[in-house]
Amino acid sequence: LKLVVLISGGGSNLRALLEAASDAEYPARVVAIGADRDAEGFEHAEAFGIPTFTVPFSSFPDRESWGDEMLRQITRWGADLVVLSGFMRLFPPRVVAALSPNMINTHPAYLPEFPGAHGVRDALAAGVTQTGASVIVVDNGVDSGPILARERIPVHPTDTESVLHDRVKLVERRLLVQTVLDIANGTLDLTEKTLA
Ligand code: GRF
Repeated sequence: LKLVVLISGGGSNLRALLEAASDAEYPARVVAIGADRDAEGFEHAEAFGIPTFTVPFSSFPDRESWGDEMLRQITRWGADLVVLSGFMRLFPPRVVAALSPNMINTHPAYLPEFPGAHGVRDALAAGVTQTGASVIVVDNGVDSGPILARERIPVHPTDTESVLHDRVKLVERRLLVQTVLDIANGTLDLTEKTLA
């Protein structure tokens, strides 16, 4: 299975996929890594010799033209599956329509709880005793697509946002590697996950 992984930040989840994919037995390969900015996570691309592309959001007059260029880059690599992993932009509807359901996203909360850009911070602010990590199919909403995997994670009273986020990321990486494996070996059929 050919993967294009999109990041915006440090790419720790990307790193986990790259490590998993370097095992010859793992039936998926990261063919390219893209970002909406010059992401720190590109260091993992260099470490693993994976081509990268950057489509800076700020270089385009609007979301649609940015999205069209992102789609052109993604399509150029012939991705079977697009993995958003710490990618902090919303695609325009026509990009989602072109890629769905073969685009998945990881989120550091137990969706549908705490969607959006600050899932960990929001869980802490809500004072919950447990949160989670999720992998979903990307739809036109914010973290609102069909859930492919999710797992509960305890919240400790002493947790700071970064301590909790690190605990969540450990689970997120495992869920992501497993979900991509399930899709690659046909255990998980995305075509059944038609958008709600
Ligand atoms: C991940 O928890 C991702 O779900 C969220 O932001 C974090 C990015 O982490 N959107 P990294 O860039 O993979 O280290």
